[in-house]
Amino acid sequence: MEIKGKLASAINTQITLEQHSALAYEQLSYDMEALDLPGIASWFRAQAEEERVHAAKFAQHLLDRGGRPQLEKIDAMTEQAETVLEAFEASLAQEKRVSDAIRDLYRIATSEGDIDSLPLLHWFIDEQLEEEASVNEIIGRVKLIGDDGAGLLKLDQELGSRPGGTNLAEAE
Ligand SMILES: [Fe+2]
Ligand SMILES: [Fe+2]
Repeated sequence: MEIKGKLASAINTQITLEQHSALAYEQLSYDMEALDLPGIASWFRAQAEEERVHAAKFAQHLLDRGGRPQLEKIDAMTEQAETVLEAFEASLAQEKRVSDAIRDLYRIATSEGDIDSLPLLHWFIDEQLEEEASVNEIIGRVKLIGDDGAGLLKLDQELGSRPGGTNLAEAE
């Protein structure tokens, strides 16, 4: 079924929001490199990549249904994270914003009776639940670690082993 009206434009805005998330994660990866935490930086780069996949999923949905994705303006990242805790708290705030946007998409889709978009939106609702839970768990651990340098290095090593993460020093 061809997509139109309010839902089409809201999905279009969502594509931009996912790209915005990708850039926000890219910035957090730079911030973590600056703190000499390459593993955590690589975790954020993997996260940025995931956000680009999200943008692509929404874009594909529009295209499959006769829509035309158009990126909107993305504001520059104006804040830098000075600590690991700040970085993950920024990440959680971004995820919550995205979760809210996806709930809004779901409300629009159901009010317009747009059945075709529901499987995609269900997938994203699950995905956001997971994203928020995993960031929350990391925040809990960062708080436990506190000022313990050895603990932080261990977390750096662990998060650096996430598949899909790349070490900037090794990337050519
Ligand atoms: Fe996303
Ligand atoms: Fe995300």
